[in-house]
Amino acid sequence: MSTAAIIPAAGLGLRLGGETPKAFREVGGESLLVHAVRGLQAATAADLACFVVAVPAGTEDAVRKELEPYAGDARLLVVAGGAERADSVRVALELVPVDGIDCILVHDAARAFVPAAVVERVVAAVRGGASAVVPAVPVTDTIKRVSTAGEVVDTPDRSTLVAVQTPQGFDPAVLRRAHATGGAGATDDAMLCERLGVTVLTVEGSEDAFKVTRPRDLLLAEALLADRRL
Ligand code: C5P
Repeated sequence: MSTAAIIPAAGLGLRLGGETPKAFREVGGESLLVHAVRGLQAATAADLACFVVAVPAGTEDAVRKELEPYAGDARLLVVAGGAERADSVRVALELVPVDGIDCILVHDAARAFVPAAVVERVVAAVRGGASAVVPAVPVTDTIKRVSTAGEVVDTPDRSTLVAVQTPQGFDPAVLRRAHATGGAGATDDAMLCERLGVTVLTVEGSEDAFKVTRPRDLLLAEALLADRRL
């Protein structure tokens, strides 16, 4: 049995600024998408057999050419994404083979520097019987719920909060069922499983799996890569 990886990379990345879609922004001379594919490939215990990458419409051929050298023996499929992240995941999911796949990972291109150990922990937990698995790290800020008027409503107990990352791992049947319900307002795939009443397990994530979102994240990414290359 093998793993399939869906990489939603169709976002425009408006918070990052610039003209180039976020997944194509370069760090250390290579796109975030290339770093993301290489990061998943480094997780050898995951047995990746297939990548399905959702990209902005019109960029499919260029991305296929760019990623081919990094896919190794895995099958590489590139598809135009949708309006929302969940739409991009749904169109990619339709291309994931049913036979021979016992775990589907969904991994944001923007979390390009996830360590292999995190990927392998997620896959191991799915293979160990969990239906849905998310890497998580403790939150360091005090988090407050606020009203539309900007007034604080309450302060959840920080010890009960975590920040979740990707790759998120799923039993394939569960992920298909979750996406069949539609993804309105969902910012990750685990949320769709929660709506079905499926238990979502957390495993230890990593600070290195941060999401490149704002311009300063590119600086952090450059520093992280330079440190890894030392
Ligand atoms: O916008 P955000 O940073 O939350 O996006 C997370 C991931 O989802 C990114 O890798 C982005 O390219 C992807 N995405 C997508 N299709 C969209 C919006 C976002 O594939 N319509």
